[in-house]
Amino acid sequence: EKGGFDWFMRKEIYEQPQAVADTLLGRYDAEGKLTLDEIRISPEELRRINKIVIVACGTAYHAGLVAKYAIEHWTRIPCEVDIASEFRYRDPIIDPNTLVVTISQSGETADTLMAIRHAREQHAKVIAICNVNGATIPRESDAVIYTHAGPERGVASTKGYLTQVVACYLLGLYLAQVRGMKYGDEIKAITDELQKMPAAIQTMLDNDQQILDLSKDLMDDRSFFFLGRHVGYPSALEGALKLKEIAYKHAEGFPAGELKHGSIALIEQDIPVFVMVPPQGRDQLHDKVVSNIQEVRARGAKTIVLVEEGDDSVNPYADVIIRHPKASTLLQPLLAIVPLQLFACEVATLLGNDVDQPRNLAKSVTVE
Ligand code: F6R
Repeated sequence: EKGGFDWFMRKEIYEQPQAVADTLLGRYDAEGKLTLDEIRISPEELRRINKIVIVACGTAYHAGLVAKYAIEHWTRIPCEVDIASEFRYRDPIIDPNTLVVTISQSGETADTLMAIRHAREQHAKVIAICNVNGATIPRESDAVIYTHAGPERGVASTKGYLTQVVACYLLGLYLAQVRGMKYGDEIKAITDELQKMPAAIQTMLDNDQQILDLSKDLMDDRSFFFLGRHVGYPSALEGALKLKEIAYKHAEGFPAGELKHGSIALIEQDIPVFVMVPPQGRDQLHDKVVSNIQEVRARGAKTIVLVEEGDDSVNPYADVIIRHPKASTLLQPLLAIVPLQLFACEVATLLGNDVDQPRNLAKSVTVE
């Protein structure tokens, strides 16, 4: 049932092009506009929303961090992201015009469920993004967007994450569409570009040999850093979490620009640092990230740089270059995370760990 793979996790990583295609399926009309029929919240109500709060745990929280950048940019609605176990204890400011978006692969996570109950007591509208049909979280929400990733058996979430990010994009684009945002052309372009992402993710997987080789080279290192800015930052956090949970390695994700404010002191000779680079010429942060790479390289780090095809600006500062197809900044997280997932899976395998049942972890956390 692992379809010839050694682990469910690895199988699920390779299923991601299909999983993302399935999340997108049936959500476009004949003119290419989004139709999120399952949002049983009326367009009038959606136009009244003046604040969005995304609530989730772990990997799903990282999907929420990506979503914030996209949703705020496309809708201009202020959007916060909170860790579910923190949310209700900070007495959050929510009211009937707040849209609470919860993200949960399993739909059974207790921290997230309690956050939903709190939000509904304050009369906020709650939309659940969930992968399991009829789970508790969608049942207790006003509406649900199912991710349709298919069952996820590996404890470390992979296709769950990618499809959560896609579902968040669909929600953001739909809100922008319903609210008649002035970026009409951009919304249309991104809506179209999303359809090309399954093929782009497949390209990442077709180039897996480089990551498998890299895993052999780095499996004995003790500490790993992941750097990114803007949407590259949540990708860094997620890449680090994967390595922690299955390879049991010390790994930290940082906003690349924040490193010099303290944590750069941890950079020592040959420490592997993965860096996500935004698109060259189309993103104001590109050059800043390239100088962040130079900063860590100058202090002895081994730099593993994820960068789009055709961008040679990093060549002098990268020990290893991992290329991905060109994509808009906001869609890059769908590509950048794939080699990081594979890296964690392969390092854990080489170390002899049980990838699908990592120590101390359960697939769904039903206690607060
Ligand atoms: C990480 C992982 C966890 C879950 C988190 C939320 O790989 O699997 O961090 O993402 O426990 O779980 P769900 O999405 O089921 O609410």
